[in-house]
Amino acid sequence: MSTEPRGLAARVVSAFREYGKHDAIVRRDDYIQAHLAGLRADALVVNVGCALVRRFEADCHSRYLATDLRVLDNVDFSSDATMLPLADDSVDTLITLEMLEHVPDPAAVVSELARVLKPGGTILLSVPSAVPRHDHHDYWRFTAQGLKHLCDPLFAEGEVMVFGGTFETLGYLAAYYISLLLHVLKVPGKTFRQFFPSIGAAIDRRAGWTTSTSALHTLAFDLLYVGTGAEGSIRRPKPVPSVGPVDQPEPWAPAP
Ligand SMILES: C[S@@+](CC[C@H](N)C(=O)[O-])C[C@H]1O[C@@H](n2cnc3c(N)ncnc32)[C@H](O)[C@@H]1O
Repeated sequence: MSTEPRGLAARVVSAFREYGKHDAIVRRDDYIQAHLAGLRADALVVNVGCALVRRFEADCHSRYLATDLRVLDNVDFSSDATMLPLADDSVDTLITLEMLEHVPDPAAVVSELARVLKPGGTILLSVPSAVPRHDHHDYWRFTAQGLKHLCDPLFAEGEVMVFGGTFETLGYLAAYYISLLLHVLKVPGKTFRQFFPSIGAAIDRRAGWTTSTSALHTLAFDLLYVGTGAEGSIRRPKPVPSVGPVDQPEPWAPAP
């Protein structure tokens, strides 16, 4: 039997679903799509940590590659994001969405992304800020300041955009945990997923808290670092080639 609401209830639910489409991730994706639309046809876009979806490929009129640590059917190559099989300064736009929190050493990933990014190229790197733990390999959460601190030294220019203000985030968390509760109670409750964040987003708009990065009390749902490749990019030191066993110096001892 269908659990979809009918009549007036259906109209209210459908209105909220429509409204809920304007949530934080949709706004972030709009920004990314607008960037991709402006790229030249010969530009190279690489989606690092793409998981199961070649996200934004359809919006891309440029060359597009997708990669992930895991060997998946939808990737062009599998690779650890700290050791990409891509040449220095070879990528016009890097997309890395909700991946950095899953790696033990985010600084190593950012450094590798800076290595492959062309001078003047763009990195679009998004991370969750205030969301529940969602994986067995879920190491980090970022604030806008933390993300900027991590990325800024490696890119010529960078700014963090905040998607989802305090009440939209609280709405998301309320919806998430209420859905979990309903799931435990075996009550269908998908509507909550969009209802609470939508209400929260409306409160944020009224309070002017949709994109604040400075106020200490604000929560953020998702952060997008938009950076530009540096002229003469900063590089990690190249690994030193192995020269075989090295004579050990005499152990140091204080002079008699
Ligand atoms: C939450 S999913 C990413 C979602 C995806 N980017 C999207 O837009 O829907 C995290 C992904 O990061 C990948 N990942 C984790 N560590 C990685 C690493 N060191 N190098 C590359 N990918 C990694 C995981 O395999 C997983 O597919």
